[in-house]
Amino acid sequence: MRQEFLKIQITYGNDMIKEITVRNYLPYMDPGQTDDEILSGLKGKQKYISPKYFYDAVGSELFEEITRLEEYYPTRVEKEILSGLLDMIRINLRNLNIVELGSGDPSKITLLLNQIPERLLNTINYFPVDICEAEIIKSVDILSESFPLQTITGIVADFNYQLHLLPQQGTRMFCFFGSTIGNFTMKDAENFMRQLAKIMNPGDCLLIGMDMVKDIDIIERAYNDSRGITAAFNLNILNVINKTAGTDFDSRDFEHLAFFNPQRNCIEMHLKALRDVEISLKNGFDTIKISKGQTIHTENSHKFSYDQIKQLCAWGGFSRYTICHDRKGWFSMVYALK
Ligand SMILES: C[S@@+](CC[C@H](N)C(=O)[O-])C[C@H]1O[C@@H](n2cnc3c(N)ncnc32)[C@H](O)[C@@H]1O
Repeated sequence: MRQEFLKIQITYGNDMIKEITVRNYLPYMDPGQTDDEILSGLKGKQKYISPKYFYDAVGSELFEEITRLEEYYPTRVEKEILSGLLDMIRINLRNLNIVELGSGDPSKITLLLNQIPERLLNTINYFPVDICEAEIIKSVDILSESFPLQTITGIVADFNYQLHLLPQQGTRMFCFFGSTIGNFTMKDAENFMRQLAKIMNPGDCLLIGMDMVKDIDIIERAYNDSRGITAAFNLNILNVINKTAGTDFDSRDFEHLAFFNPQRNCIEMHLKALRDVEISLKNGFDTIKISKGQTIHTENSHKFSYDQIKQLCAWGGFSRYTICHDRKGWFSMVYALK
């Protein structure tokens, strides 16, 4: 297990401007292990790449661009809720430790912090947690310029299996925005909520954003934007896999496919082969054949009903929760107290 406690110096020219603190808990994966995980997904009948490989520095930038698209309503409506959230829920902010899972860019936490008076801000510790180190460094850098928080400590970790490594001090508010929980299968969402239940103490709370079931056209438009940014984001996963597992995918051999699956209330993202392709592996011997029309499944994005929110809260062991939503009821922010 790697546990790097980094003091990163941000410099412009020769001048050291400031130092930020980042903890990196991602284990040094044996490259063979990562290759096996990726290749077993590509060898199956329905080919599959885990969405965690979307987020290299390029993928993270593209995701940020998606969140600014007109068609991509989830970010807009979630931000609408977050902008007035602290008037809707009662929370003791003094000495709070905010732990944001899958934090990405800092724009959403900024909306919350903007609502907190300065005399309380300097009692608050903030811990953004993400699998992408570049995003964490950027986020800590931006926030330390903007807010007089007591401390900001970036944490690079995988929220699927490293929740037990997160800060355990004081009262904590866990934030999980962007309907990232919707990227899990229901089984994985259950596991995640049960793991969270184990690490949370009485008095801790969770703020979790969930995209709701709605008109299919609105949902499908959000994942098929006219500028092709979501397509570029989806295709970029092949470049990440080439770098990570030594494959030789050519993203021009594939096209972006995103559609709503009504049985599972879920947007499925795939990459569809435009021609028969044969992918070489690092070892130079094996190949993976993908026929024209065959797809690689890259992401699920589940949409939620109020019954499912209730179920998630039950898995998390939350008996008290409040659901805040936007004017159209498109998105829910659940505030759940342990
Ligand atoms: C859907 S984006 C949401 C980003 C941001 N929270 C928002 O609401 O716009 C998912 C975020 O989770 C991060 N992520 C994905 N898989 C992860 C994992 N297994 N562990 C930690 N972070 C992960 C990505 O790097 C990305 O920043």
